[in-house]
Amino acid sequence: MDFKLSKTHQLQQEMYRRFAENEVKPLAEDMDETEVYDMELLAKMHKYGIMGIPYSKEYGGVGGDYLSYTLAMEEMSKVDGSTGITISVHTSLCCGAIDAFGTEEQKQKFLRPLVDGSATGCYGLTEPGAGSDAAGVQTQAVYDEATDEWVVNGGKVFTTNSAFADYCVLIAMTDRNLGTKGMVALIVDLKSEGVTISQNIKRMGIRAAQNCEVTYENVRVPNANLLGKVGQGFKIAMKALDGGRIGIAAQSVGLAQGALDQAIEYVKDRKQFGRPIAAFQTTQFKIADMQTKIDAARLLTWRAAVAKDNHENYTAPAAMAKLFASDVANYVCREAVQLMGGYGYCREYAVERNLRDAKITEIYEGTSEVMKMVIAGSLNLKK
Ligand code: CAA
Repeated sequence: MDFKLSKTHQLQQEMYRRFAENEVKPLAEDMDETEVYDMELLAKMHKYGIMGIPYSKEYGGVGGDYLSYTLAMEEMSKVDGSTGITISVHTSLCCGAIDAFGTEEQKQKFLRPLVDGSATGCYGLTEPGAGSDAAGVQTQAVYDEATDEWVVNGGKVFTTNSAFADYCVLIAMTDRNLGTKGMVALIVDLKSEGVTISQNIKRMGIRAAQNCEVTYENVRVPNANLLGKVGQGFKIAMKALDGGRIGIAAQSVGLAQGALDQAIEYVKDRKQFGRPIAAFQTTQFKIADMQTKIDAARLLTWRAAVAKDNHENYTAPAAMAKLFASDVANYVCREAVQLMGGYGYCREYAVERNLRDAKITEIYEGTSEVMKMVIAGSLNLKK
């Protein structure tokens, strides 16, 4: 067992760090203030392969692994949580579902542009009445035999990236009586007639991410865009989320490390009672606790990523990583603001943005309570 990154992973980490520092960080504050994601930055991320890291070169991806994707997620999220979720929903939820369940034809048609830098993806599961209870989806897909198409009616909410995405992996109900076995996953071209995308929903954090309501009114989707089989929609949604949760764990680690790094710089400079506050043991103990928790969260995240890369079952490891790392992100960001006092609370310093961005990591892609359900479900608790 070796807890160190390989030389290749270290080089990738360094490259992502430079991209985050040079390209993302200078835009982060303004994107947060305006609540608009910079389209030139998105284009750059596509150009440099950041949107196709764990996908095969055969389809135009980078040919990296999930561990390198988590390294990118951490580096980007250190400087901007909104960039983290923009990459994550595209990579894990949209591309992940197509990569795992798509036919060769679907991969050529949809995965290729998504990972070679020509298109952006999103994922539509959550509805006003279907959050933690993902099986409560009301959006209907009805098969039209005459045209070999699905006709979709309904509405999704909090669809990240939908303001600018090209394709959406959409989860819809075909037969309510069958419950989780009565759902489909469809790849929907968001330019299709009948698709309406709302303004960005105003939020506390990750404000630059584009998180809209998407309404589907008699939207016709070719049967050729059906992912997997009829009835597999719920399973596809869950599998995509397993991968997504590793990405959110890495985002949480990034938000936490980014906040701690800022706090460390601050406490070395800030003098009170005649000394830099870094010289006080209270400060040192706080920082020791923060870094220890971050390292533990990072190791859980890497463990889940490596389990996925090794084709082992990663459902519970992903849930554990997300549960723990999101808690750590909230604790560390709160403590970082505390160490920086009144300045930490000011928008002049990015640490208050990390704190606002961190809250959602305990909510999206499965709440902490859902993570506990998943983890408990993986343990043999029945006598
Ligand atoms: N992989 C494969 N199959 C899975 C699975 C997984 N991870 N999880 C469940 N399944 C299968 C089960 O094996 C079961 O199949 P069988 O009937 O054949 O046994 C079937 O799915 C139903 O499973 P459950 O009985 O466990 O389903 P449930 O209705 O009790 O729900 C749940 C379980 C864990 C609570 C699930 O609903 C869940 O994860 N909810 C949270 C949803 C979520 O994360 N939403 C976030 C949306 S995306 C987002 O956040 C927006 C964004 O853009 C960032």
